[in-house]
Amino acid sequence: MNVLGIETSCDETGVAVYRDTEGVVANQLFSQIDLHREYGGVVPELASRDHIRRTLPMIDEVLKEAECTSSDIDAIAYTAGPGLVGALLVGASVAKSLAFAWQVPAIGVHHMEGHLLAAQLAEESPDYPFVALLVSGGHSQLMACHEPHQYELLGESQDDAAGEAFDKVAKMLGLPYPGGPAIADLAQKGDTGRFRFPRPMTNKPGLDFSFSGLKTFTLNTINDLGELTEQDRADIAAAFQEAVVDTIRIKCERALDATGLERLVIAGGVSANVELRKRLDQSAEKHQRQVYYPPLRLCTDNGAMIAYTGYLRLLHGHSEDLGINVRPRWPMTELNTDE
Ligand code: KG4
Ligand code: ZN
Repeated sequence: MNVLGIETSCDETGVAVYRDTEGVVANQLFSQIDLHREYGGVVPELASRDHIRRTLPMIDEVLKEAECTSSDIDAIAYTAGPGLVGALLVGASVAKSLAFAWQVPAIGVHHMEGHLLAAQLAEESPDYPFVALLVSGGHSQLMACHEPHQYELLGESQDDAAGEAFDKVAKMLGLPYPGGPAIADLAQKGDTGRFRFPRPMTNKPGLDFSFSGLKTFTLNTINDLGELTEQDRADIAAAFQEAVVDTIRIKCERALDATGLERLVIAGGVSANVELRKRLDQSAEKHQRQVYYPPLRLCTDNGAMIAYTGYLRLLHGHSEDLGINVRPRWPMTELNTDE
């Protein structure tokens, strides 16, 4: 069985084919970073227009890469939300139209479920049950996952998502968008011992996050220093990253303690952060637990995670009509009732 996956929720056009017997057999990604860079963030209208230009040619490309034709495609999965409404509508319209023309089912996929299930595409794949930490540009959530497609929200960010905090602090330091990889690079030259930034919401019980105070603390540190040297910028990047990573580690340990679960799955763009992976690996080893991540290239937005999640949803009996509907806001726990 071949499932075509289309991801257009934000600033990346991702198209891929998942084959049940072989795994991901084609995976193309076009990042719009250069298009949005001069604005310091994603401009929704520009994103939608670019998705329109890219999606169909990329579908042709992945069919070639997967050495198949449209008649070999058994289902089309697309990101139905959450995300930018115009961007989502491009992927949904293309998927539904092709599904109609090719007489195959279309499957609307939850973007964050796609991120999470990408961990099953890694060599070491997690069994259920597990605690999931979803950290992306739009979400920071801890979930308990006892069985496939059932999600119990344990905690989430009360303000900025982890990736969003990376992006905003990067901007303060004059680094390009997206900020996560730029901060991670700069932090390598920094001294984590020079500043100690707060670990928000770790002093009191609970599994929620808040990153906006940390962002303000970073801004105040920058303002207090005045003119920044290259070393100042690196030290601030290192202190900020250290604080985010440490906060996430504490919350993950707490979630595993609270649920009694032994496996942790980290997904979403921030799960590409090497320092975060290092720290969570150390914690897992210390507590004799297991931690799982998606393959590095599948941590950020991509079509493979959508194709794979669509495949699993299809097996699970998912079906929908030909109406074109997207969900710009869509709590993942609502998937539980979608039987
Ligand atoms: O999952 P994703 O590609 O898109 C959303 O669904 O939001 O995540 C993008 C986010 C951005 O905020 C980006 O700065 C962050 O993930 N990110 C990272 C790293 N790579 C991407 N944050 C920290 N370290 C990284 N290496
Ligand atoms: Zn994403």
